[in-house]
Amino acid sequence: MKRRQFIRFGAVVGALGLVKPSKATNIMAQSFEGKTNGPLVLSTWNHGLAANEGAWAVLQKGGTALDAVEKGVMVTEADLTNRSVGVGGRPDREGHVTLDACIMSGDARCGSVAFLEGIAHPVSVARAVMEKTQHVMLVGAGAKKFALDYGFQQAKMPIDEVKKDYEQWRKENKDLFKKPEINHENHDTIGMIAMDANGQLAGACTTSGWAYKMHGRVGDSPIIGAGLFVDQEVGAATATGLGEAIIRIAGSHTVVELMRHGFSPQEACKEACMRIIRKHNDLSGLQCGFLAIDKDGNYGAYSIYAGFNFAKHDAQKNELIDAPFDRNW
Ligand code: GLY
Repeated sequence: MKRRQFIRFGAVVGALGLVKPSKATNIMAQSFEGKTNGPLVLSTWNHGLAANEGAWAVLQKGGTALDAVEKGVMVTEADLTNRSVGVGGRPDREGHVTLDACIMSGDARCGSVAFLEGIAHPVSVARAVMEKTQHVMLVGAGAKKFALDYGFQQAKMPIDEVKKDYEQWRKENKDLFKKPEINHENHDTIGMIAMDANGQLAGACTTSGWAYKMHGRVGDSPIIGAGLFVDQEVGAATATGLGEAIIRIAGSHTVVELMRHGFSPQEACKEACMRIIRKHNDLSGLQCGFLAIDKDGNYGAYSIYAGFNFAKHDAQKNELIDAPFDRNW
């Protein structure tokens, strides 16, 4: 960077109140950053491994990142063993499984559904909102009507096993504000971001949300800029974890904007986590993690607590990687 460019960059960083994370402040995290030259898919948690296979089937045939992320997260939405995404998801406090999802391509086209019940693939409904309407977001009964009008597959939720768990929980647990467990055993959202062979970026995010949440609660996952943000000029980011904390800092948008101002994907993910840490006095149970890819194929991740992992598929392999983190539980 030439001196004048550097000074201009410094002024922008100063004006935005952005402070690049110093390596010295990062006590516990191991360093992880990668780069790929071909198509790439990243997705949250170990359920991302199967989802990445779905996405890769599209990318290896020369398909678009947008098609890949939709097909990829549909694998998780259809997985009846998954308790935090799609048909197998846990209900809210009143026994309703309410689904949130969004999709976005690098050209700023996006669609989203929230508080949607009884539809097997909310991500595909979100894509239809993007492609068939003038809107970005449909919620609740309106989203359901739209999905039925367009013939989207219905599904009975909660499934029997989940209903049984819920009934037990109802008997034992009356604490409305108990924080959810978000760890490698209780896998939270699937957020997926991808780059196709033409360098085009896209992302998708889908969840049944915080188990036993209040009826009507919507998390970060369907909110463009919180659970997902993609800008072809810069890169893509997605989030997982406690949605309320991610919304408070417009998490995925924050990560992309930090990359726009010179942060690497991992530095940007880390700064988003640190911002959440700085805004909360009580960090107990407050796990959040971010994944990011920049437009050149550099990628990174970061989480507040240990235990967040993500699946990366490139031309070499599909593998699970432990994200760097700020603190142990
Ligand atoms: N991150 C998913 C949620 O909070 O609903």
